[in-house]
Amino acid sequence: MTAERARITVFDTTLRDGEQSPGCSMNQQEKLRLAHQLDRLGVDVIEAGFPIASEGDFESVKAIASVVRRPIIAGLARACRPDIERAWEALKDAARPRLHVFLATSDIHLQYKLRITPDQCVEQAREAIRLAKLLCDDVEFSPEDATRTDPDFLCRVLGAVVEAGATTLNIPDTVGYTIPAEFGDLITTIRQRVKGIENITISAHCHNDLGMAVANALAAVAAGARQVECTINGIGERAGNASLEEIVMAMRVRPDQFAYETGVVGEQIFAASQMLSEITGVPVQPNKAITGRNAFAHEAGIHQDGVLKNPLTYEIMTPQSVGVPDSILVLGKHSGRHALGIRCEQLGYQFDRRALDDIYRRFVRLADKIKKVEDHHLLELIRDTHKPSGSATPLIEPLAPAKAAAVNAPSPVPEPAKPFPMGPQTNAFGVPLPVHGDSRHEQTQQEDYLWGV
Ligand code: KIV
Ligand code: ZN
Repeated sequence: MTAERARITVFDTTLRDGEQSPGCSMNQQEKLRLAHQLDRLGVDVIEAGFPIASEGDFESVKAIASVVRRPIIAGLARACRPDIERAWEALKDAARPRLHVFLATSDIHLQYKLRITPDQCVEQAREAIRLAKLLCDDVEFSPEDATRTDPDFLCRVLGAVVEAGATTLNIPDTVGYTIPAEFGDLITTIRQRVKGIENITISAHCHNDLGMAVANALAAVAAGARQVECTINGIGERAGNASLEEIVMAMRVRPDQFAYETGVVGEQIFAASQMLSEITGVPVQPNKAITGRNAFAHEAGIHQDGVLKNPLTYEIMTPQSVGVPDSILVLGKHSGRHALGIRCEQLGYQFDRRALDDIYRRFVRLADKIKKVEDHHLLELIRDTHKPSGSATPLIEPLAPAKAAAVNAPSPVPEPAKPFPMGPQTNAFGVPLPVHGDSRHEQTQQEDYLWGV
């Protein structure tokens, strides 16, 4: 019998907190396009903006609320009447509106930013939630800078807003200060000490200043949070927010550690990431987990050889599971003969072992100089190596067009590595090539492994 898996609400704030990152602002049309993609991605909540911040933000939230009907649409407001009323004005036509009200609670923020006393803070939070509740059933409260707030005071504020009608308590690590065990403990404390918490959804909102946003969000979930706030590609203020794709895929790849599920459609992740990058003009960091262009790229020979034999050797999820078309074997100086041979086949050329060795030696010299060997370089190298007077071992056979097409056709199940050569062949000059497939088969696994390097 499989154990029941808790459902985690995915609250996407790419259009609000994400948009606050330098260079990531979007106009109304762009926000709408991305909101439709977030809908296809299956997120539960889209935080569409901060309506009081600008006319443009107000119009964007209003437009998204009127056309994106499946997810909850949230709008952000400070804990004051003008903000809450403006946010409601933008949200009121949504199929499922949510008012998200925040107020800082840490001493540093109360003293230097808001200049209010702790008692005033409690009263302001309570009044704001009462007002929000008169307008909207679904009300979320965030004590900004919660992780630097005295836990006793934090529980006091949270108790007051629960009593006033909040339905979700979001715990922000606003400055990315906490660490996983500590954040988990804070969630546990809140669950133990806040009156009425049983009927409330606890949420985690983590920033990445110490690179721990995703780990902190997952620790919060392990401690009982049932909503995570996150962004595509992890964009957001300063070092960003917890990345949606990393949280979701951690849960999918390690169900033994994270017995939770989300409504996210994995196959839509890459499209969302690419769309965001295209709209903002901000490229995804190449080594970004899940969505970076190197996330499924292999250059080292040992890795390429392993992946060609069985992708499980070096990939913990399939590229297809997150919507990436395929793994990429990058041909560079670390690549091995195995990957080079496969790429030659894809380009329509088959070589026996000796011929491939010949190409390989020249390939490594070239890769040393130019770093990444593209197809046109390889074709030139093949032609040059095997021109009638140019090679010691002119053993080359361009594949017939039909065969080349078959080699190039994407295959859903990776084929097992084939020995070289693949059958009786002739070289470019019509001379039959020696058949030594059997001796190749006799090689030990260890030799085969090293040959791929
Ligand atoms: O980081 C933060 O504290 C926020 C709140 C407004 C939720 O973004
Ligand atoms: Zn934030």
